[in-house]
Amino acid sequence: MVADLHAHLAFPLPVMVICELLGVPFADRGYFHGLSERVATIRSGGDADVAMGEFRAYLGRLADAKRALPGEDVVTDLVRAREQDADFGEEEMTRLAAALLFAGHETTVGRIDLGVLLLLTDPARRDAFDPTRRPNPHVSFGYGGHFCIGASLARTELATVFARLFRRLPALRLAVDQEELEVRTEQVTGGVRSLPVTW
Ligand code: HEM
Repeated sequence: MVADLHAHLAFPLPVMVICELLGVPFADRGYFHGLSERVATIRSGGDADVAMGEFRAYLGRLADAKRALPGEDVVTDLVRAREQDADFGEEEMTRLAAALLFAGHETTVGRIDLGVLLLLTDPARRDAFDPTRRPNPHVSFGYGGHFCIGASLARTELATVFARLFRRLPALRLAVDQEELEVRTEQVTGGVRSLPVTW
């Protein structure tokens, strides 16, 4: 049995989590993921900016829907914050919401794919891997004023996946040669297009 770990785990998991957190309909994932791919395209010939405009318009429509029918989610919180703060404009709100939705899944999806790939191709690291290690001085989440706002969420997702996946499926292995994997070289967020595995 062969399954695409990218399509069945790496993509839907962070998307479900960020949708739940922000109050974005999971059913819209195809739409906003398409926009994210365009936003993240290097040398897009200007289309990345067009896509970001569409992305923000989408979040603006969602904010309108939350204004009419509030939920218990971050987009509703942003709508409320805007009502209470005249300096927090619609443009800033949609930019922030779009940044959270974009950064909240594009990055984590790719890190699940690449992390699993690393642990599959270097079994010695799978024993040794310890996300709670100290010291742990990597700068994958940036540093100082440029530190990732979603780092603890991403860490929780990644630590859960890497620990549980290999416990549940100890015989997990790549179903193709590593060289056959298609790398997303045209995307700033990198990663692979699919990750065929078997177990
Ligand atoms: C493994 C997954 C992730 C990685 C590797 C990552 C990495 C980073 C890095 C390096 C930065 C700093 C960029 C810079 O200013 O130079 C950043 C910023 C940011 N990240 Fe993440 N991130 C991840 C997941 C997330 C998640 C899950 C969220 C949302 C919940 C998120 C939201 C953001 C936002 C909004 C910023 C901009 C923060 C600001 O400008 O103050 N990221 N991320």
